[in-house]
Amino acid sequence: MDMDTLKKLDSAHLFQNYGRQDLAFTHGRGEYLYDVEGKEYLDMVAGIAVNSLGHAHPAMTAAICDQASRLIHVSNLYRIKEQAELAEALIGISPDGLDKALFVNSGAEANEAALKLAVRHTGRGKVIAVENSFHGRTAAALKITAQKKYQEGFACLMGEFAEYVALNDVESLKSAFDKYTAAMIIEPIQGEGGIRPCSKEFFRTARDLCDDNGALLICDEVQTGMGRTGEWFGFQHHGVVPDVISLAKGMGGGFPIGCIISSDEVSKTLSPGTHGTTFGGSPLASAVALAVLRTIESDGLVKGAAIKGKGMMASLKELLGDEIKDVRGAGLMIGMEMATKAQDLQKHALEEGILLNVCAGNVVRMVPPLNVSQSSLDKVSDTIKAFMEDI
Ligand SMILES: Cc1ncc(COP(=O)(O)O)c(C=O)c1O
Repeated sequence: MDMDTLKKLDSAHLFQNYGRQDLAFTHGRGEYLYDVEGKEYLDMVAGIAVNSLGHAHPAMTAAICDQASRLIHVSNLYRIKEQAELAEALIGISPDGLDKALFVNSGAEANEAALKLAVRHTGRGKVIAVENSFHGRTAAALKITAQKKYQEGFACLMGEFAEYVALNDVESLKSAFDKYTAAMIIEPIQGEGGIRPCSKEFFRTARDLCDDNGALLICDEVQTGMGRTGEWFGFQHHGVVPDVISLAKGMGGGFPIGCIISSDEVSKTLSPGTHGTTFGGSPLASAVALAVLRTIESDGLVKGAAIKGKGMMASLKELLGDEIKDVRGAGLMIGMEMATKAQDLQKHALEEGILLNVCAGNVVRMVPPLNVSQSSLDKVSDTIKAFMEDI
């Protein structure tokens, strides 16, 4: 189908709630995508930190085909072997004390579950969130997504349970906690907010304040989790263990699945009937997520992300100046803050066959598949360098 026909079909029948580019892909392989005209693109977006193994990875394809040929879905009314095995593997990579998992279908759903868990567990009604955060677009997740542009028009759907503090402002964090606080939720590195890392001091203070006030520390690892930052989880950079982790995105490598993980004791708060989903942790989703986890493990992709990301950031940092104002992130979650030319760079890269994403207005975000090759990353930094020389 040519682009004009597709655009007409799209605008005739789809909600126009996305600012889509006129680009459509027919297939992908590894870190490459191919458009309807056969042009190849190096995918530095990876479905926004989702395609952790790239496209058409044989381990994922095999898991999908094998599981789909036997059992795709059964209700959570029954015991599901694939779900229990995935939980065991996730607990295996989680720090001690985090030993129970609950499966859902997306990041927003994971955070909704985390919030329900925290308020029910503590019997309290206040949650502290960080300004400029992003936790999803369902009602409670939207309330803790402390950005006006996402919340506007939906006030009536969101409860009055959240209080916001500025990222890395330790003093305002201290004054936000009180005896009504059920939880604090943090992204170790803000993703949609512009790849803004949480400081060690801020994270550790949040941990201490949660302990002192009997609140739960929820770590939103939806974008940072599953090896993306060069550790299995973003909080591991800070030497701090949260009470609850939420995961999604890269966990399924493109197959929708999310989860929360907590201690056994905290998990008991959600007794039968208090929470659940029809699809969460289906045999198919669980089998695929297990194949993704095992491949990340067996191919050493967590360490690989740390090494490749370090090299990439060092080479981008050589370009720091009036236009490239900052390069930040960890592992293969890299943000390059530009003064005025982020959109121009994105356009130039597209012409050169590289997909980049601009978030938070002026931050070029790079979140490629974890198994991206070094030569592909070199191509990206060379293209950015050439762009900078020409402007
Ligand atoms: C940190 C974080 N939390 C939650 C979400 C929401 O995930 P989903 O779009 O799967 O609901 C996102 C999505 O970008 C995210 O980056």
